[in-house]
Amino acid sequence: NVTEEELLADPVEKIAAVRGTRHPSIPLPADLFGAVRGNSEGLDLQDAMTLEDTASAIAARADIGAAPADSTVEDVRTAIAAADAAFEGWSRTPVETRAAALDRLADLLEEHRIDLMALAVHEAGKTIGDALGEVREAADFCRYYANQARAGFAPVVLPGPTGESNTLRLEGRGVFACIAPWNFPLAIFLGQVTAALVAGNSVVAKPAPQTPRIALRAVTLAHQAGIPQDVLKLVTGGGEAGNALTADPHVMGVAFTGSTATAKAIARSLVADDARPIVPLIAETGGLNAMIVDSTALPEQVIADVMTSAFRSAGQRCSALRLLVVQEDVLDRTIEMLKGAMDTLVVGDPADPRTDVGPVIDDAAYRKLEDYRRTMQDRWLHTVAAPQGRFIAPTAIRIDRIEDLTQEWFGPILHVTTWKAGTLDETIARINRSGYGLTLGLHSRIAGRCAHTVAAARVGNLYVNRSMIGAVVGSQPFGGEGLSGTGPKAGGPHYLPRFAVERTVSIDT
Ligand code: NAD
Ligand code: ALA
Repeated sequence: NVTEEELLADPVEKIAAVRGTRHPSIPLPADLFGAVRGNSEGLDLQDAMTLEDTASAIAARADIGAAPADSTVEDVRTAIAAADAAFEGWSRTPVETRAAALDRLADLLEEHRIDLMALAVHEAGKTIGDALGEVREAADFCRYYANQARAGFAPVVLPGPTGESNTLRLEGRGVFACIAPWNFPLAIFLGQVTAALVAGNSVVAKPAPQTPRIALRAVTLAHQAGIPQDVLKLVTGGGEAGNALTADPHVMGVAFTGSTATAKAIARSLVADDARPIVPLIAETGGLNAMIVDSTALPEQVIADVMTSAFRSAGQRCSALRLLVVQEDVLDRTIEMLKGAMDTLVVGDPADPRTDVGPVIDDAAYRKLEDYRRTMQDRWLHTVAAPQGRFIAPTAIRIDRIEDLTQEWFGPILHVTTWKAGTLDETIARINRSGYGLTLGLHSRIAGRCAHTVAAARVGNLYVNRSMIGAVVGSQPFGGEGLSGTGPKAGGPHYLPRFAVERTVSIDT
């Protein structure tokens, strides 16, 4: 009978208690409820519910109704026109008013968390822990960007000769297109939208076609929080609607999270029309994320962090560990422990609080991942049982070289290879050469080696001696470079200005 308050205070211990006995030496995929460690003050615990009650409430909301119909190209144009007309008024709305709306939205998200969590579970296949993390991260984004805007969007008075006043202002750009993936259908969706709004833009937001219901709910709550209807418009659908959005000359900025291929398609669409203004693209994409483990690393910690990084969220995080690069001296021991830990994974119904690994997002993803997994069968180091349905059995696959992993497999599939003592520089250089640069993990107790990796790694987020997922808003600004993105860090102090224009006003008094 664990309360939500207890969960928030000590998630791993308490969940372990709920589930009963686990593998004695291997913790739960550590940090199962890690996303709970957000910055916001915490959910209202006055009405704290037990985990069982939460699970029952989520199960009772299994009927999520029909998805909203896909927007037509004409619908997209109409939405952009409305947002364009609403832009001036919103951009002149005081920053404090815009920020206060985000704070109210955060409160509403927490108030409606069970409904939102149920949508995350039943529409996106999130486990209950991940669904709670979605709500927490979305609320964190709202409050963080509200405070960043309050602190950073006041006009800056600059020095100048006597009799001259100089000020620098940050203002909205116009209509911002926000295009989100399905894997964080609330947190990333609202993170993009709230950043663009509080910076003074109007927004046309398009969720992934797999997750329109939770997006619709989020937009409804945003309107309830005080964002005017035409300042935030929702359009639905896939690539066709997305392309209609980014190709429209009235769109003055694009925030996109998704695959590298789509980011490149959007970049091309933004420059296709010579007459169009130069439009910024904030793109956060995928990665071939590696974790380097040396012989000094703490084995139990390594395994706990590998389990979390590779298999939590069914590996459907851009940050997830794809390639474990183990010093060859400790490979056998590492694999032995990894097998033991993998055997404790519970794969199945995401609405069951005991589940570690839920389904993958849709049939197409299932087929692609399962075909690949089967193709690599002679290289399996280990796999575990998975029920029938869209469940990919978590699998560890041996590959010979770092370079053998050439594409992002967006599921619970971990590749394992080795490096030799004395070749750390070369190993990092080979990882860098993939061209991706999202997350990198290092497990080592040699301080100089950590410092060296920090200097050499070309990634947006480097995690040393911990898991490499679950970036916390305000603490671990998140985003990659190279093929992994254009660089801006969601949840970081430099993010909002990317959504704004800077204007200098010099007045001779
Ligand atoms: P995706 O690129 O297929 O789709 C993302 C969004 O783009 C969807 O809303 C989709 O409808 C839209 N879209 C598709 N074609 C478009 C076009 N031509 N023009 C405009 N919009 C278009 O990605 P996905 O499958 O939804 O998400 C998984 C990918 O997202 C993975 O590669 C993952 O690594 C990445 N991701 C990155 C981050 C990050 O922060 N770096 C976070 C989450 C997911
Ligand atoms: N921000 C998400 C994570 O860190 C993608 O896992």
